[in-house]
Amino acid sequence: MDWREYWNGPHPIYVNARHRALHFDLIARDIARLFPSRQAVALDYGCGEADTAATLAQACGKLYLFDTASTVRERLRARHSGDPKIVVLDEAGLEALPEGALDLIVVNSVLQYLSETELESVLDYAHERLKPGGKIALGDVVPANANAVSDTLALLDFAVKGGFLAAALVGLARTAFSDYRKLRDQLGLTRYEEGRMLELLRERGFVAERAPHNIGHNQTRMLFLATPAPARDPAAPA
Ligand SMILES: C[S@@+](CC[C@H](N)C(=O)[O-])C[C@H]1O[C@@H](n2cnc3c(N)ncnc32)[C@H](O)[C@@H]1O
Repeated sequence: MDWREYWNGPHPIYVNARHRALHFDLIARDIARLFPSRQAVALDYGCGEADTAATLAQACGKLYLFDTASTVRERLRARHSGDPKIVVLDEAGLEALPEGALDLIVVNSVLQYLSETELESVLDYAHERLKPGGKIALGDVVPANANAVSDTLALLDFAVKGGFLAAALVGLARTAFSDYRKLRDQLGLTRYEEGRMLELLRERGFVAERAPHNIGHNQTRMLFLATPAPARDPAAPA
């Protein structure tokens, strides 16, 4: 099994319904702050179950949802077919978006499942599809020095504040014997040094910075914001 197959199957990554609800509420609030205007056209890349997509769509002009898992896309289509502001894309739909169509691309908690080469393809895609001044937000990026302990502590802190500690403890015990743990041990998660990520973004033609606050509950992970660098005026001195 690889990560794509894993995410296409049943994957109990939320310890209970309250954890899931609080997670999506929190990331919706963090993502909504990134919309440059209420008319913004946004793409949530690797959106997962996107439980709060309808709320997010109210805060922008149009919300595209994309996930590589076909099972996820089917559920999203069933849930949002009546919402004119939400469009669920498959790979062909993603490719068909015209150049300069998007104000914001959010990629949250996805890069750890992608190789660096796959990230470069995502960045090249973003560079083409973003409007001038548009932004890509790479959230929940796992730092090079992270380990399972930092994720566990962050979850426990979220659980204490959110009132689901008992369920989190049971969930953590369950995770220790889960396919997620086996895959994480086998394949690992892709991690980045802050400097390496900024360098990669620069190499792919972005002006980038690390934001002070990550999307979601785990503040040991990182958020990067990047805008395509303005095209150089060929007449300007080098
Ligand atoms: C941890 S979930 C994150 C979901 C959501 N972005 C969030 O923050 O709650 C990771 C998601 O990334 C998706 N994914 C994995 N590899 C992907 C890829 N190469 N392109 C797009 N999505 C991918 C998975 O199917 C899964 O839904």
